[in-house]
Amino acid sequence: MRCDILTLFPAPVEAYLAVGVLGKAIAAGVLDVRVHDLRRWAMNRYGQVDDEVYGGGPGMAIMAPVAVRAVEEVLAGEPARVILPDPRGRVFTQELARELAGEQRLVFLCGRYEGFDARVGEILKADEISIGDYVVSGGELPALVILDAVARQVRGVVGDPDSVVQDSFTQGLLDFPVYTRPREFRGLAVPEVLLSGDHQKVAEHRRDASLRLTLARRPDLLLRHFFQLPSEVRKKVRELARELGISGLPEERS
Ligand SMILES: C[S@@+](CC[C@H](N)C(=O)[O-])C[C@H]1O[C@@H](n2cnc3c(N)ncnc32)[C@H](O)[C@@H]1O
Repeated sequence: MRCDILTLFPAPVEAYLAVGVLGKAIAAGVLDVRVHDLRRWAMNRYGQVDDEVYGGGPGMAIMAPVAVRAVEEVLAGEPARVILPDPRGRVFTQELARELAGEQRLVFLCGRYEGFDARVGEILKADEISIGDYVVSGGELPALVILDAVARQVRGVVGDPDSVVQDSFTQGLLDFPVYTRPREFRGLAVPEVLLSGDHQKVAEHRRDASLRLTLARRPDLLLRHFFQLPSEVRKKVRELARELGISGLPEERS
């Protein structure tokens, strides 16, 4: 997958891309990620990229010619999905990460100040995506959050593909809790079954732990696809719900 990130602050973006799972995938050539300094497309020799907003009020907006020319030059006529991180966009999910992982090429346009002139998204037919209901100071962190989640869905990026399947949200559940050495710490012991070597019992324990956690913290995830769960899993969910005192599960259909 080819990916271009256009930003006024290339250094922290490049630093993040140099480490961990993404760093390895880029070094191995599985991902081709290029970072571009938006100031290259500044309006004048003073490096101006932003201006006051029409109608008055606080803050500056990034000018449309800067952003549009930058994307057009980087793309050089090639097709791509243009992503505009924006708190007003649709909220990013694992499902959208999987969808974007199917694209050949992504372009991220990172906003700053009050964001881009509103015409930028329209002209570039950009996909406006929010990473959540809060505001950060620039599009760099959101772009990296989105890119990282998307990249994990690209074959060859995460060494063990099972770990992606097991990730929270992939199967509509939160991931189960994990433990490592020591077996006991500050009076808290690792669940005995995990030390038993019985693979079936371990798998059942993990599934139940995953269901319990999802039910307690994110029942909305379970309810969304409740009737797609196998009947024995639904039965288990009802049992756990009774144990946790959670009501409101849908009745079984006759
Ligand atoms: C300070 S914010 C502008 C926020 C804008 N005044 C608003 O309230 O919608 C500057 C830039 O950060 C990025 N940004 C901030 N919060 C975001 C979020 N939750 N999701 C995606 N991008 C975000 C966007 O690129 C945005 O243009």
